[in-house]
Amino acid sequence: MQNNNPIGLFDSGIGGTSIWTAIHNLLPNEDTIYLADSKNAPYGQKSKEEIIALSIKNTEFLLNQNAKIIVVACNTATTNAIKELRAKYDVPFIGIEPAIKPAAINSQKHVIGILATQGTLNSELFHQTAEKFHDTKIIEQIGHGLVPLIENGEMNSPKMNELLHLYLEPMIAANIDYLVLGCSHYPYLIPQIKKILPKEIKIIDSGEAVARQTKNVLLERNGLNNEKNVAKAIFYSNSDPKVLKDILNNKYEVITKDF
Ligand code: SIN
Repeated sequence: MQNNNPIGLFDSGIGGTSIWTAIHNLLPNEDTIYLADSKNAPYGQKSKEEIIALSIKNTEFLLNQNAKIIVVACNTATTNAIKELRAKYDVPFIGIEPAIKPAAINSQKHVIGILATQGTLNSELFHQTAEKFHDTKIIEQIGHGLVPLIENGEMNSPKMNELLHLYLEPMIAANIDYLVLGCSHYPYLIPQIKKILPKEIKIIDSGEAVARQTKNVLLERNGLNNEKNVAKAIFYSNSDPKVLKDILNNKYEVITKDF
């Protein structure tokens, strides 16, 4: 048995392409549809109700394109809306939760840092996860302003550098040995972050874990595509597609559509 329908992914914008890349690398025969809801970015400062409504809108769009599984490639949408999505639809959902577990388990100093949006850090799901690791001190930092800069393609701007120094220096002073990137946009800042962090601090993002989980869920359901399939990837954006195209190295077409 196999299922040739596409894997659907959505994010508040371009950040979830870090997750898309991990999925595409692990599952090169799978067709994918990626939805960048850049018009409504950032999600991080919206209310839970707004995030749920946007997540439902994105899910409906992907289901109308026959998505066989939906990857919520956005930490803020996962932590605020995945419970509601799972209750409403039969299709399986994969979410990205901040990778606190591997950081806490491997931390020698028992002090880790997490950089995420306000929506993620305030969510019940984040608090429940953090409480499981009460012997680890978790330094939380909201990444105010980072997502809009990334959505504008300003990853290397002086403003970005200034904000990263502001957010990371207190974590360095607190003696963290792991930094968890709790937002799918932030892996695009790894080169800049590495310039600020001492070498011994390790950076963790969730892309590969999400890809493995997607594969496992599809395997359990006999839901993988034919191994001979040459994957097609469709990208949709409801805003200026330039940054999305750039982040994909202009290798893929981006369809602009108002959704
Ligand atoms: C945002 O839209 O604020 C960021 C999305 C995320 O948390 O991954």
